[in-house]
Amino acid sequence: MAELAHIPDPRLDRRVAAIDARLDLFEEIARLREERDAILLAHYYQESEIQDLADVVGDSLALAQAAAKVQKPVIAFAGVHFMAETAKILSPDSTVVVPDMRAGCSLADGCPADQFAAFVAKYPDHYVISYVNSSAEVKALSDVICTSSNAAKIVQALPREQKILFAPDRYLARWVMKQSGRDDIVFWPGTCIVHEIFSAQEIAKLATEHPAAEIIAHPECDDPVLSQAAFVGSTSALIEHVVTSDCREFIVATEPGVIHQMEKRAPGKLLIPAPAQGNCACNECPHMRLNTLEKLYLCLRDLEPALEVSPELRARALKPIERMLAFSAGDTGALLRD
Ligand code: 13P
Ligand code: SF4
Repeated sequence: MAELAHIPDPRLDRRVAAIDARLDLFEEIARLREERDAILLAHYYQESEIQDLADVVGDSLALAQAAAKVQKPVIAFAGVHFMAETAKILSPDSTVVVPDMRAGCSLADGCPADQFAAFVAKYPDHYVISYVNSSAEVKALSDVICTSSNAAKIVQALPREQKILFAPDRYLARWVMKQSGRDDIVFWPGTCIVHEIFSAQEIAKLATEHPAAEIIAHPECDDPVLSQAAFVGSTSALIEHVVTSDCREFIVATEPGVIHQMEKRAPGKLLIPAPAQGNCACNECPHMRLNTLEKLYLCLRDLEPALEVSPELRARALKPIERMLAFSAGDTGALLRD
């Protein structure tokens, strides 16, 4: 899927503009969810109102696990394209609708399947681990899928002599190498436009202004940010850390959508969003933020746009995703089993 976030969608704009302004969208979404017998899945980077409406709000792993379990005719997925696509692969009989089909991801968009196939072909004896932030076509070229919460565990579970290719996030790859003590992993050089923009310098400055604050970061950040962090983890691990830590102040180096759950679950703690370079607001994911309450209402009302994955592609992409789910459920042997 090409980079679509900045391409206008006049038809969607017209549908949004035509929504009756007197409607209470919270009530309408709740009503439609009942009527459609739908489940609403939302990622932590969604705006607070969407998170509050969701049946399940989680990180990529939790959302994939929820999609695998779901037995509902409709899944409304408030996240980005690769997440909804994964849900469709795991739950093919459900209609999977998304608020805005343009919500992509720089990591997935920066790793086209044809180029990735050529890259993989150069390393025929490597085990291919692809981050869930990738297209179904790239997943289909992989041995196993990972998320930020299980990437290091998957690498550590493989035999030391097993050569590994990791895609598409170079910073996550480097972090995984550090965690696993392996410096020989071949990786695709992609980046997340949100996490690579955090300024290590500004974060260090902020830390001197808040000496009691702990820096916490997502592993999609670059090394100069990660090396300052007292804790690195997936979105749910970051939230859990804020809740359980004795520390009262945190500088949070990930998309600021997570702060909503942190505030709810750890009231009274000071949560400071990490600054981006030039102090722009570019630490908000432009893809995730395409989703709004209005568009969520429309996708439930009209059951469009709906995700489709061909049966042939689904069959190829399903296996590496299932390996990850089995591994995360405790079946370590799943990684190397056919
Ligand atoms: P998590 O799996 O940690 O929620 O990350 C998803 C993502 O897109 C991070 O940028
Ligand atoms: Fe992709 Fe980065 Fe947005 Fe996550 S924050 S969806 S990795 S662009």
